[in-house]
Formats: sequence, structure tokens, C-alpha cells
Amino acid sequence: MEERKKVIAEAEAELDQILQHTSDLSEADLALACAPLLAAHRQYVLRRAVLLLVAVAVATLIATNSATAKLHLHAVARVALVKLLPWWDWRPLHRQRCLLPNPHFSPPPASSKDECLSCEAIDRVDRVADTSYQQLLDRFLQRDAPVIVTDAMDSWPAMRSDKLWFDNFTQVYTEEKKLKGKKPRPCALSSNIRADSTILLKRLNNPRLDHWFAHWLNCDASAMKAMRQFYQRPYFLASSVAPAHFNWIVLSSNYWAKSYKKLRLEAGLIMVHQLRGSTHFRLVPVPLCEEMCTEITETVREGEILVFLSFLWDLHYSSGRGAENMAIITETIWDTFTVY
Ligand SMILES: *[C@@H]1O[C@H](CO)[C@@H](O)[C@H](O)[C@H]1NC(C)=O
Repeated sequence: MEERKKVIAEAEAELDQILQHTSDLSEADLALACAPLLAAHRQYVLRRAVLLLVAVAVATLIATNSATAKLHLHAVARVALVKLLPWWDWRPLHRQRCLLPNPHFSPPPASSKDECLSCEAIDRVDRVADTSYQQLLDRFLQRDAPVIVTDAMDSWPAMRSDKLWFDNFTQVYTEEKKLKGKKPRPCALSSNIRADSTILLKRLNNPRLDHWFAHWLNCDASAMKAMRQFYQRPYFLASSVAPAHFNWIVLSSNYWAKSYKKLRLEAGLIMVHQLRGSTHFRLVPVPLCEEMCTEITETVREGEILVFLSFLWDLHYSSGRGAENMAIITETIWDTFTVY
């Protein structure tokens, strides 16, 4: 410490002298003369930075291990953020899901009208059976055409069993004993029954409840895994296609409404697996393509899978009128530029 102060004092004295004669010094001389001072300063800044880093690391460690410290740190961080507002408006970031755009997460939405050329001539959904991955790619997916495969679910346990009830989809959320640790909650839950999500899902099991619909995204990993027992990789997908990244549950009983409900599907390859009953759907061109492409309306029936890529289409659905409609919708991240 003492030594450094001495060096700085000496350097300063030297600098004073130099400054009195700056006119007869070249730039190189100046740099040479200032070198000790600059070096000392750099060392000082570096030490401060290291100290600060260590302090932050220790504070974070303590904070993550103690609830009280966490609370204080949160408070301090909040105040700091508020004070920061006049210089930097961070509020838009608050609502963003990712700080940086991740090109692998959601597909870039159609960005140029040229992309709408894929859907301009599509006005219906074909039904196919006994198909193959190559056929599906060539005839449908590569030109953004939706397709219904009619024979892919026949052997699935959920289709062969006569014991598939609404509980099978809700029990991950409602059964107390199954919960280890945190209780999962459904995401993006929508229903005509007004209640808190867990209470709502419990009520769906009541056989006296009639005229209702509900759909939700299984955003919790344990719930998502539990739902995998009801669907499998259909035979028409190559093994190079990743397993579904997200799944939605769509249930209804004796429900009929004029309006279609939009599902916010993002990940690319969408498959609607109709386990029971039916689902009327509408594929609506994304806003960029709405002038060039037309809306398609169809119904996916029990045992059928609707397959499409979500780059150009938004999915809107309306429940079948039957007493039991159950569908699982999966989303799989899809890179159109990779040849699978
Ligand atoms: C649905 O749940 C019941 C009771 O928990 C179970 O016996 C049945 O096997 C489940 N159905 C399917 C298809 O998994």
C-alpha cells in the first residue's frame, strides 16, 4: 500500500514537471514519462474490479442460501432497477421470455410475402393412410400443406383401452399423493368454467358437470412427462425427428360454441392427436399471408392425427358436440432448413 502511494506520488511529481515543459516534448516522450503512473492506475482499477467481483459472488452465494438475505437482495435490486429507469428503460425486457432471441426456440415467423407462396394454393386438408415420412415431407410438409393421417393411432394403448377418462389428464395436477415437492400448475388454461386452475381441474372429474371445455399447456416437466403415456411417436415420423417438446390437453363435454378458440402454438411441427370424440378446426393464415392464402376448416375425428407446420398457419378450434372429446396437441421444434 505504502509503496504504491510512493510510486504514485513520485509519478505525479514527475508529471507536474513534464506538464510545465509540454511544449518541448514529443508524444513518445510523454507516453514514456506517464508510463509508471498509468501502470499504477491500471493495477489499482484491476484490483478494485477483482474485489468487487468476489464481493458480488459471495453476496450471491449467501443470498441463494438464506431466505432473509434473498429478500434484502431482491429489495436492493428492485430499488436499483427503479433508479436506473431514467437512463435505461428496461421495462420491455420484463415481459420478454428470453433476453436474447434464440433461433432454435421458436421459428422465425414468416417474414417475407414470398413465403406465402407455399399456402396460396392450399384450400383443403387431405387425408392419408399407410404413408411414410418421405411421402409426408414431399407431398405436404415441404410445401406447408396440412394433412390428416388416419391410421397412426390404432395400436396405441390409450386407443385400445376403454378406461380413458378426463381424470387421466387432470390427476397430475389434482392428486395430492403424487406430488413430490412443488405442485405443478397448468399453463395457458382456458375454460368456460370460472375457477382457480387446480379447483377447475378437480371439478372436471365430476360426472355431473356438463357443457364445458378446457384446454391447457403442460408447462411443468413432470406433468408433460406424465402425458407422454397417452401418445407415442407415430409410425410416419423418422427417428431423426425429436420427441415432442411441448404438449397441450384439449377436453370438452357436450359443449358447443359459435366462436373458435385460438391456441398459441409456437414450436413448428404441430400434431393434433384425437383420442376421443372430434375437434373442428380452422387453419388461419398468419397475418402476413392473409391476403394470399385462404382459411381452411376441417374436422379431426377419433383416431386421426392432424399434422402441419405452424410457420404459416394459426390453429383455431371448436370442440366436437359429443359427450367426450379428448385431444393431445404436441409441438416439436422444427428447422425447415435441415433436411431430416
Ligand atoms: C386412466 O386412469 C385409470 C385409473 O387411474 C387407469 O386404470 C387407466 O389405465 C388409465 N387409462 C389409461 C389409458 O392410461
